[in-house]
Amino acid sequence: MRTAVYPGSFDPVTNGHIDIIRRASSMVDRLVIGVLNNSAKSPLFSAEERVNMLEEVTKDIPGVEVTYFTGLLVDFAQSSNARIIVRGLRAVSDFEYELQWAQANRLLNPALDTLFLITDQNYSYLSSSTVRELAKYHADISKFVPPYVEQKVLEKY
Ligand code: PNS
Repeated sequence: MRTAVYPGSFDPVTNGHIDIIRRASSMVDRLVIGVLNNSAKSPLFSAEERVNMLEEVTKDIPGVEVTYFTGLLVDFAQSSNARIIVRGLRAVSDFEYELQWAQANRLLNPALDTLFLITDQNYSYLSSSTVRELAKYHADISKFVPPYVEQKVLEKY
């Protein structure tokens, strides 16, 4: 069975993430989405809320599981029996950061590879922080997140 992990903050999950989840899940038997539960950050949504939103918006996609993790990504991948880490790449500005971590993760565990999927051009500008910023000023976010997530974001502000 081919398993991949798709890690991220997902604060909140956007249509860009969902596009990556659909495409990645069609390449593997099992895609484990890992929500980073980082106590150093103060996210808008708790890890439980982020997991819940991801479960809701991916329930029609076969082979997808959602969980949260703390600590190192390589340890999460190993405990999920995954040898593939999926990351979405938007602009060139993402590249340097991603390259650094993909290489660091390979040093930590050479059995792991990072698979980069190029973000659909419709979502190249889209990020969770953009969604949070727009919502803060009561802008319309319905084009960027699924209706379920839009509702949850609106409840926060
Ligand atoms: O959606 P994000 O915030 O860009 O995701 C970043 C994430 C979760 C992939 C990264 O911060 C991560 O893997 N953190 C876990 C700690 C770790 O292993 N760090 C080193 C490798 S990135």
